[in-house]
Formats: sequence, structure tokens, C-alpha cells
Amino acid sequence: MKKLALLLLSIVLVISSVVVFASCGDETTSSEAETSTNKTETSSGTESSEAASIEEEVSTDEKVIKMATNAYFPPYEFYEGENIVGIDAEIAALIAEKLGMKLEIVDMSFDSILSAVNAGTVDFGMAGMTVNPDRLKEVDFSNSYAKGVQSVIVKNDSAITKVDDLFAEGATYKVGVQLGTTGDSYSTSDFGSDRVTQYPTGNEAVAALLKGDVDCVIIDNEPAKAYVNANEGIKTLETAYADEDYAICVKKGNTELLEKINTAIYELTKDGSIANIVSKYIKE
Ligand code: ARG
Repeated sequence: MKKLALLLLSIVLVISSVVVFASCGDETTSSEAETSTNKTETSSGTESSEAASIEEEVSTDEKVIKMATNAYFPPYEFYEGENIVGIDAEIAALIAEKLGMKLEIVDMSFDSILSAVNAGTVDFGMAGMTVNPDRLKEVDFSNSYAKGVQSVIVKNDSAITKVDDLFAEGATYKVGVQLGTTGDSYSTSDFGSDRVTQYPTGNEAVAALLKGDVDCVIIDNEPAKAYVNANEGIKTLETAYADEDYAICVKKGNTELLEKINTAIYELTKDGSIANIVSKYIKE
């Protein structure tokens, strides 16, 4: 009986040491993947606590800063394969670099960005976002890094030839917008919600225009140009609908991050980095 108990005990011991050994091996591998320079120390044998402390070091070194955006807004943010690229994505990467942090971009619907920033699930929002009084009640904005203009996209043969046509007495033209944007709020207050259809993205608003579901799309000028270039049969009207400033938003009261972002924007403007990024995406 005693012998059997001993045998069982030693089997248990052998199994558990195999498990410990295996998990040591795992830790070594994962920290190796993150820092190749620590390879020799981690595989030398004394081990799991050493490996763990190295992992901690790695994660504190690489603090992540999260940016919320809506990545259907070329040339500010859009998908290239699986990656989100564009003016905002590149400026944000330089800001993160200045803060010594690694940028992570979180794509979400445009109208969720402010609440994500305020809930703290992301650190800041950058989405060709216009500074306006309503948003200033909810979040704080950095200094502006770009200008935007609301423009109107119509079909080439549209009866709408100027912005004033939308305001004409008795006009019933239907307007497509991206939900929660300034294009949405201006059009809704100017023409009434019956004439305005909100789409989750600008792409969908433009698709609706092409299909004839709406008579025009009101959206920022640079995305408008990108959509016009990418689709046959549509154009933008020459007159603009509204002028705006784009800025980065942070949680209300997060002055520490806001000041760092403003310093970074200042430096990146001064050394020409922002202008370089803009000219890479916007060819005049
Ligand atoms: N400038 C407009 C606004 O702030 C539109 C921004 C839309 N941005 C986007 N990434 N989809 O409301």
C-alpha cells in the first residue's frame, strides 16, 4: 500500500515537473520573440522569474497609446490592405514617437469616437474631426493641425449646380451624409431631418448618390475629391458649404496629454513634418 502511494506520488511529481519545464520553455520563447537581445540570459536556466521580469520591462518600455478613428475618410484615414494609413495615421505615429509610445489605431463608427475618448477606452481621437461648440462641451481639443471645408458632391448631370440650389424655396433635394459628422448636423439644421439620410460611412453615402437614393452628399472636401476621383459620373460643386478646423480630441480635463500633443504638433509643424505628410497625400 505504502509502495503504491509512493509510486503515485513520484508519478505526480514527474508530471508536474514536466509541466513546470514546459511552461518555463514557453515563457522563454515569448520573451525571446519580444526582445531578441535577451536571448542568452533567458535560456540560461535560472529562469522563470528572470523571464517574467524581462517581460515586464518590455511592456513598460513599449507603452501603447490608443487612437480612435473612423477609417473611411481618405486621405486622412483609410485602409490599405489591413493597415490604416493616411494623413492622420502618419501624424499620429509621429506624435506617439515623440511621446515615446507605440501607436495603436482603433477603428470605430465616427459617432462613437467622443464617448470612447471619454470612457478612456482610447487615449485620443483623430479623425479629420472638426472643432465645434457642441463637441467642446464633451471633450478638449488640441491646436488645429489642418483645415477642412464642407463640400457638396453631385452627379455630373445634376440639377443642383450651386449650394444655393439646396436652399431654394420649395427645394426637396435629398442630402446624404455620414452619421454624426458636421456635414450631418449642418444639413439637418439647414434642410430638416426629412431631407437628410445618414449613412455609417462616407463611402456608403457616395454609393447612395451613385444609385440615385440621394441627390447630393455633403462631406469634407478632401474625401469628396477622393470619392470623385474614384468614381465615374460625379463631381463637387465649386462653392463650399462651410470652413472648419481639424484637431485631436482628448478626455475633458486631460491637460497633461493635451499639452504633450500640442507640443508635438508645434514641433512637427515647425520642422515641416506635417506639411510633408499632407503633400504626400494631397496633390494640388
Ligand atoms: N470633419 C467632419 C466632422 O468632424 C467629418 C469627419 C469624419 N471623419 C471620419 N474619419 N470619418 O464631423
